[in-house]
Amino acid sequence: MNPTVYNLALVMHIVGITLMAGATAVEYITFRQFWKTIPSDKGKGMVIWRTISDYQKMMGIGMLIIIIGGVVMMYYLHEAWGAQLWFRIKFGLVILVIINGLGIRRILGSRLSKLLAAMRPVYERTPSTLRIRGYIQVVHWIQLVLFLAIYILSIFKFV
Ligand code: HEM
Repeated sequence: MNPTVYNLALVMHIVGITLMAGATAVEYITFRQFWKTIPSDKGKGMVIWRTISDYQKMMGIGMLIIIIGGVVMMYYLHEAWGAQLWFRIKFGLVILVIINGLGIRRILGSRLSKLLAAMRPVYERTPSTLRIRGYIQVVHWIQLVLFLAIYILSIFKFV
């Protein structure tokens, strides 16, 4: 094993985690601002909405960097890590992070975009928008729990 390459991959892993988890936290806060603003000022709300869409790109890039770093580490030490329980559970949770944070979140985002585009010129508070607001909140909470669980597993490394 080349320790320098392994450590560089770990640095990459941490950079990716920072990007992805950071974007999730910032998206959560910006969403709160969005829901406060959109009823009184649709124009301003739409600017916030477009900013939120950029966070999704940041999350995707973060995930890609996490995976590249993880795959390089596994290339060197897959026999050690691959057999351990923490890694197997973690891998399942990573798949859930992708499904929840990128897949489901994207579907909800495009539904909200369509609803917002249909209500011109003012925002209408309908059961559909309230439902999507609730679902997106659940996505954020699930993401938080998944990240915490992955951190605990990766750091304690229960065999
Ligand atoms: C949401 C996705 C992920 C998060 C939040 C995450 C988080 C972490 C954290 C916090 C560590 C501990 C770093 C340390 O001890 O210094 C770690 C280590 C590790 N991760 Fe990940 N990880 C993710 C995805 C992955 C994936 C997809 C792979 C493999 C393809 C992977 C492979 C590894 C390995 C092999 C280590 C052990 C590094 C070591 O301690 O030497 N991770 N991860």
